Amino acid sequence: MTGDERHGAPAPVLAAALVRAREAAGLTQGELAERSGLSVRAIRNLETGRTARPRRQSLVLLTGALGLPAREAGRLLGAGHPATAPEPPAPAELPAAPRHRLAGRGAVLADLTAHLTRPSPGQRWPAVVVGPPGAGKTALVLRAAHEVRGRFPDGQVFVDLHPASRLPVTADTLVRRVLRSLGGVPAPESPEEARARLRDTLSRRRALIVLDNADSEAQVRPLLVDDARGAVLVAARCELFALPTLLRRRIGPLEPQDAHRMLAAQVGAERLRAERRAGAALVEACAGLPLALHIAGLWLAARPGRSPADLADRLADEGERLRVLRVGDLSVWSSVTAYHRALPPPLRTALRQLLPVARDFGIEEMTAHVTPDRSHAVDLLEELLHRQLVEPGRPDRAGRVRHRLYDAVRLYVAHGAAARRTR
Ligand SMILES: Nc1ncnc2c1ncn2[C@@H]1O[C@H](COP(=O)(O)OP(=O)(O)O)[C@@H](O)[C@H]1O
Ligand SMILES: [Mg+2]
Repeated sequence: MTGDERHGAPAPVLAAALVRAREAAGLTQGELAERSGLSVRAIRNLETGRTARPRRQSLVLLTGALGLPAREAGRLLGAGHPATAPEPPAPAELPAAPRHRLAGRGAVLADLTAHLTRPSPGQRWPAVVVGPPGAGKTALVLRAAHEVRGRFPDGQVFVDLHPASRLPVTADTLVRRVLRSLGGVPAPESPEEARARLRDTLSRRRALIVLDNADSEAQVRPLLVDDARGAVLVAARCELFALPTLLRRRIGPLEPQDAHRMLAAQVGAERLRAERRAGAALVEACAGLPLALHIAGLWLAARPGRSPADLADRLADEGERLRVLRVGDLSVWSSVTAYHRALPPPLRTALRQLLPVARDFGIEEMTAHVTPDRSHAVDLLEELLHRQLVEPGRPDRAGRVRHRLYDAVRLYVAHGAAARRTR
């Protein structure tokens, strides 16, 4: 936009609104001039309607100096007159989604896109995808977000709430970050006002906000707005049960056929077909985890001279597996570390104590191996389930529910320290 473009409500409307806002703020023309950096004369000309078509930049400075809430500032800037006042440029922050087809996620992807494109926004509460490390949460939300981005003309904002090796993003930082991305007047100093400004912005702008690696409700809550025009999509590391959501999906390991298909897509169906047993062994060693399968696929793709059987051999040793499942910046070990690091000590201890029964346990094993106090055992188990370390089982014929540690979690607890030492 050039400095010569003129914006705003019609001059008399603007003049009256400006006088009202200045008086409400208890400022003289001189004081407002000082705060805004405009001249007293410029302000006088605006307030008398002599400046018929003010510069947008002047109005931005004035609304900022007056500390007007976004809705009023928008009105002054002529937000009701789209022909004369374009919104700030729409952000396009989505990282690239994986280029390959996502195996086994067709149904959940369809649910997400249908939710995000519901015709009546109404109460567009967040859609949440939750799952264990490496299950494909990020890939899934990004794919969904790219599919529907056209429906969000005011932009797409992406925030990783737990960027690798940096501190988590707090709710207040997130508020400022989203406000900054969506543009307009600067965020107010006070966190409370900034939250109010954000709600106001979200109730007006058709923006898609994508949050990755959320692990608490508090991180998402500032984005909840009853009459939001946009939508919020969250990839979470734990169940956010206290959050009002309209759509919640848990993703886990892929079914064996899907896992096989995913590997074949990367390695070439021929190469896998030639070594059927090795292919099956790879799928088994990766336990259906998309991250592990992706790494296995990359390993083979990078080594045309090695056979799937070579890789299957290396993965056969459980003590070695995490060390092998690493390529470039993709690593099953780091992916589990991010979850494990967030655990309170009693949960870490419980995971270790569960190792002997990791593949098949229920509350009886919890009381035998972790704590004799049954209600404490129930609490610990629930917490491990919420935090996506334990794969929930279905009740068997006798009505008993048997769970298992996710395989990558089991390997991490059993052999993680060794895998780390050689990094
Ligand atoms: N359904 C899938 N089909 C094929 N590849 C997938 C699938 N889900 C994830 N991937 C790939 O697996 C890796 C891990 O996925 P990611 O989304 O980063 O997992 P998470 O965010 O749950 O830790 C990525 O490289 C991603 O491209
Ligand atoms: Mg992720």
